[in-house]
Amino acid sequence: MPAETVNRQWLLARRPRGQVRVEDFVRRDASLPQADLAAGEILVRNLMLGFDPAQRGWMDDAPSYLPPIAIGEPVRGSAAGRVIASANPAYPEGSMVRGLFGWQDYSVAARAGDPDPVAIPDGTALEEALGIFGAASLTAYVGIYDIGQLRAGDCVLVSGAAGAVGSVAVQISRLAGARVIGIAGGAEKCRWLVEDYGADAAIDYRNEDVRARLKALAPDGIDLFFDNVGGTTLEAGIAHIARFGRIVLCGAISGYNDLQGVPGPSNLTRLIPQRAGMRGFILLDHLDRVPAAMAALRQWVGSGQIRYRTDIQHGFDAIPKTFLRLFSGSNRGKQLLRIDGV
Ligand SMILES: NC(=O)c1ccc[n+]([C@@H]2O[C@H](COP(=O)([O-])OP(=O)(O)OC[C@H]3O[C@@H](n4cnc5c(N)ncnc54)[C@H](OP(=O)(O)O)[C@@H]3O)[C@@H](O)[C@H]2O)c1
Repeated sequence: MPAETVNRQWLLARRPRGQVRVEDFVRRDASLPQADLAAGEILVRNLMLGFDPAQRGWMDDAPSYLPPIAIGEPVRGSAAGRVIASANPAYPEGSMVRGLFGWQDYSVAARAGDPDPVAIPDGTALEEALGIFGAASLTAYVGIYDIGQLRAGDCVLVSGAAGAVGSVAVQISRLAGARVIGIAGGAEKCRWLVEDYGADAAIDYRNEDVRARLKALAPDGIDLFFDNVGGTTLEAGIAHIARFGRIVLCGAISGYNDLQGVPGPSNLTRLIPQRAGMRGFILLDHLDRVPAAMAALRQWVGSGQIRYRTDIQHGFDAIPKTFLRLFSGSNRGKQLLRIDGV
């Protein structure tokens, strides 16, 4: 057990009303869990946090694929850290792990009913474990291959394309021989899309007419649309879907902070004459695909065929405002934070 007795935590203070704010969170210095670990459990010293737009949904009191975060509880979120006490031979003391350990210094993990923590292999940096080898890349892999049924020669559209999930979706589609159009906010991210991630074209949704650009760039329509954004972006993709096209609903970030909820696309019936399909998915249902996805990612990253960015902020006190970066587009790649003092 560590000498420290304080476990700093960021709790959900109240349910965000629309736009999430730093005031929705409150810091508490709790005492460190001192009781003996039950068989199978581990105590983790969190060293780095990873941020995901889905955390915003978990803050609402609404049915979803995970229960809402309770008011007064540490915010649920990805973290990576060192096992400092273990009652589980699969995670020996001193080994590194990642999991949904939350916004706190220390977490008891691998409790009965919890998802298994993921062991981080020697030689993999924490920013890689939470970044390019983390859930975002696995989501892109499952979404493009298994849900989207990517075929060589497809014209693929990816929204949120310069982010953690989107940039991998773009690159693995290109590697499989697709033509790829990415949508992102601003000239800088659009430049990364073409110059670094190999997209054939990029659309700056903040400064360009997405529908007009899609018409020009994909006159025969989009075969596979991997959507991270929802709202008017989804509507634009539906308007340009090709015959027998596939739309993969990965996320809908444009509506996560919308108090009223974003109205559904007004043009859904366009799917009928186009004989097109649309399907949502959640990575957690596809964990059997993780070994194949991880092997492929390691090979692509090792050979330089996939590039990535990580945006590392610093300091325990900066946790809430770092989370907010996702919703202003301030994050430059996978949003991470290194906890100070460790
Ligand atoms: N289905 C699953 O299992 C699963 C798993 C993981 C993630 N996801 C989803 O995948 C999506 C991407 O997640 P990520 O971790 O890769 O985040 P990310 O793309 O690295 O960061 C979020 C980005 O979303 C864009 N954005 C923010 N507000 C927006 C708005 N109002 N309209 C349009 N774009 C906006 C910003 O990029 P710009 O600067 O380009 O606007 C921002 O940088 C999210 O929707 C997330 O919920 C789904």
